[in-house]
Amino acid sequence: MLKYVGNDLFVEKVAVSKLAKKFGTPLYIYSQKKLEDNFNAYKIGFKGVDTVICYAMKANSNHSILKLLAKLGAGADIVSGGELYRALKAGIKSQKIVYSGVGKTAQEIEFALKSNILMFNAESFEEVEQINKIAGKLKKKARLSFRVNPNVDAHTHKYITTGKEGNKFGIRYEDAFDIYMKVSKMKNIEIVGVDSHIGSQILDVSAFKLAAKKMSALIDKLEANGLNIKYIDIGGGLGIKYKSTDKPQKPIDLRNIVMPVYSKYKGKTIIVEPGRAIVGDAGILVGEVVYRKTAGTKNFIITNLAMTDLIRPALYEAYHNVLPVKKSSKKQQIADIVGPVCESSDFIAKDRKFPVVEQGDFIAVECTGAYGRAMASQYNSRPRGAEVLVKCSKVKVIRKAETVEDLMSKEVK
Ligand code: LLP
Repeated sequence: MLKYVGNDLFVEKVAVSKLAKKFGTPLYIYSQKKLEDNFNAYKIGFKGVDTVICYAMKANSNHSILKLLAKLGAGADIVSGGELYRALKAGIKSQKIVYSGVGKTAQEIEFALKSNILMFNAESFEEVEQINKIAGKLKKKARLSFRVNPNVDAHTHKYITTGKEGNKFGIRYEDAFDIYMKVSKMKNIEIVGVDSHIGSQILDVSAFKLAAKKMSALIDKLEANGLNIKYIDIGGGLGIKYKSTDKPQKPIDLRNIVMPVYSKYKGKTIIVEPGRAIVGDAGILVGEVVYRKTAGTKNFIITNLAMTDLIRPALYEAYHNVLPVKKSSKKQQIADIVGPVCESSDFIAKDRKFPVVEQGDFIAVECTGAYGRAMASQYNSRPRGAEVLVKCSKVKVIRKAETVEDLMSKEVK
């Protein structure tokens, strides 16, 4: 999706510099082809397996992106009433929506029940008591699975590993059977599935096999005790190539590692919840050089891209490759690429080899389609940039840039 044509960086058939000049920076640019290819890789990877692909929309919930994925047949993994609202607005079928998250409120549960979603992925006993109560009030039965923490190490960053003991997600594997049996007696609950999500940016799918084996043993025990498990939700988590040394695995690799465990079951549906693997490498973030300075031996490239536009480096020390929008023959230097926000953690890249730049040069940060704009903030009163979607040589603005007035719009004047 991203390549140099001559010296100019292009997304599909459009020059990035042209978009940066027209729409201003910071600017998020997405490739429609890459989004479609990434989604279709799941369809192809799981072909022949009864599967619902529930896009984890926390990665990027832009309305146009959701609409595009809905057209391709995507369901959604949601974590809030806001996400449910967006999913339905984009035309995602409620029967393909699963609802995860540790803190679903009464209002959110009611909204989900009224919307007739596929199932709740419950994360505690008290949550199920609440769901049961509200379902009773609405004279409904809530379809439910538990998010079970299989306690496997997915070898990712400590803030994005979720399947290990000691984090807030799901219920303990050791407690799962008893909790399931207890909950199965609740009048307005229908147990329909099991769920696990073991982490994010997983580059080695073998952890999924360990999780699948444990979940399969749980399913067998639950079914031997009279429950009917129709859905096996294996979560999201496939990684993407942030660094040139990253070797991400594909949906087909995921299928090949979990299906030998699950293929013995007939009539069950597999649910996958990919977020990053759908949108991550389909997006770039474009900014421009404001100033350069050196301090002793250190070079700084000061840009208008801040932790408010992309928080991943500050929050997870995440690596994002940075490219000059115009290929440069200038000599390389080692520099920190930083933003204007008053925090030491406000950086895009540290000690990075990058060609010497001039004021006004555009730079592009790769792999920012997931958890980029979705986690952006307005800290330091910084309006967030526009988002555009490129399809071949066509460009569509899918979110306008904010203005300072937008930032103040809910404030009392
Ligand atoms: N399902 C559940 C229940 C999740 O909690 C998540 C992500 C996903 C699916 C999607 O995971 P993915 O396929 O995108 O790895 N902000 C962090 C990532 C946080 C992920 C949270 N949960 C980052 O920028 O790396």
